[in-house]
Amino acid sequence: MNRFEGKSVIVTGAASGFGTAIARKFANEGAQIVCADLNMAGASELASELANAVPFEIDVANEQQNKDMIACAVDHFGKIDVLCCNAGIPHKGNYMIRMPVEDFDKMWAVNVRSIFLAARAAVPHMPPGSSIISTASIGGKRPRPGLVPYNASKAAVITLTQGMAVEMAPNIRVNCVCPVSSPTNFDFQTMGTQNLSEEMEKKVLETIPMGRRATPEDVADGYAFLASDEAKFITGTSLDIDGGRAI
Ligand SMILES: NC(=O)c1ccc[n+]([C@@H]2O[C@H](COP(=O)([O-])OP(=O)(O)OC[C@H]3O[C@@H](n4cnc5c(N)ncnc54)[C@H](O)[C@@H]3O)[C@@H](O)[C@H]2O)c1
Repeated sequence: MNRFEGKSVIVTGAASGFGTAIARKFANEGAQIVCADLNMAGASELASELANAVPFEIDVANEQQNKDMIACAVDHFGKIDVLCCNAGIPHKGNYMIRMPVEDFDKMWAVNVRSIFLAARAAVPHMPPGSSIISTASIGGKRPRPGLVPYNASKAAVITLTQGMAVEMAPNIRVNCVCPVSSPTNFDFQTMGTQNLSEEMEKKVLETIPMGRRATPEDVADGYAFLASDEAKFITGTSLDIDGGRAI
């Protein structure tokens, strides 16, 4: 399928996990991509693999760097059809009252402020029919102990999505995805180990009716659907990609 031929797509957090899969998915279907990440080496490596892509180094919490990322997309591709606000960070799994205040502020800036900044800079360059998609989390709807501030930041992403959808209709659709746990670098950041312990894996799987964790490709498929013409009347939605975990 070449659903995104001639489309210009920005993906933040492109150097790893979901972002890499999202960038690959859009590129494989014909899009031109800005692979944006704090990790410039990773973004450059990915961009060099794709047919028509440029890397961009950004801290998504930084206002000027968001403006520069949008300018980069416009300079290379003339417009922005899909803005994928995917970059996000968790914090070490912990009871909230033990979490350092600086960790809270940083996490909130990366997960929430980033979407406000990117959308503000991008919207003037987004033609009618374009869309903004963000990565929230199923924890934003069904929080559990251990990642409480992170889950609240993802609830904010869901609410931002709904509010922006109303403000930006009818020209720009705004949606988000709510993935369940997935084995990306995220695990390393929350638990300090690359792989979950057998006991932890079992605990996670017991909460997911479909019996497995999400893959980055599951998430990329959700992004592609929400950006496609098949979703042309869908805005303000938060699409659960969770194997039934939220039920
Ligand atoms: N993996 C999961 O279990 C899971 C579940 C639900 C939602 N999410 C969300 O999915 C998104 C992607 O996470 P992932 O699982 O692919 O994790 P990941 O750690 O594999 O990838 C995150 C990417 O974002 C980049 N990044 C981090 N901070 C940044 C910043 N300030 N500016 C620019 N780039 C930055 C990292 O360099 C990395 O390349 C995040 O928003 C995360 O909260 C993850």
